[in-house]
Amino acid sequence: MIWVIKVILFILPAYFANSLPVLLGGGKPMDFGMNFMDGKRILGDGKTWRGFATGVGIAWLIGCIYSLYLPDWLAFYDDSFSYVFLGLISGFGTMLGDALGSFVKRRLHFSRGAPSFLIDQLPFLYLTLLFLWLYDLSIVSWFDIFWLTVLTYLVHRIANVIANRFGWKKVSW
Ligand code: CTP
Ligand code: MG
Repeated sequence: MIWVIKVILFILPAYFANSLPVLLGGGKPMDFGMNFMDGKRILGDGKTWRGFATGVGIAWLIGCIYSLYLPDWLAFYDDSFSYVFLGLISGFGTMLGDALGSFVKRRLHFSRGAPSFLIDQLPFLYLTLLFLWLYDLSIVSWFDIFWLTVLTYLVHRIANVIANRFGWKKVSW
């Protein structure tokens, strides 16, 4: 049971990084409005610098909170610095993975905000896990990857339906 809580704590910074930009993002797009070789936008208006910074910032903040307050029985790193690092890596992994997903969507001619099965939900998770694994090879197992994939897909879908109901997001995906 404690294992379940630990895995959720482990991925929480990435989930916050992935969800907060919808509330606080906006402003200059990361691709500065530029098109790729195919004449479509590189990333599109849904990826902004403010959203990127919001994602990295919140994940880093959660990492700092872990490093200060996580009790020993929930610890998953040996030293407190690793939690700050976890936050930063999760923030960058999430926002880069999310931007990568948009890059792929634009190349496949999906317009900004169009739903795309799996591309919307998973690149941020896998890039984050890859970065965290590179930092500490023992931290993620194949089993974790499997069930985080299922959890992330479900959480992402449910969160988007809620965001849509509350009017924070125009569409429910
Ligand atoms: N957002 C942002 N900056 C980011 C990521 C997200 O400002 N780096 C904000 C945008 O307002 C975006 C919203 O969060 O519309 C939801 O994010 P997401 O679903 O990832 O973007 P989409 O608009 O669906 O665009 P895409 O088709 O490229 O996924
Ligand atoms: Mg979307």
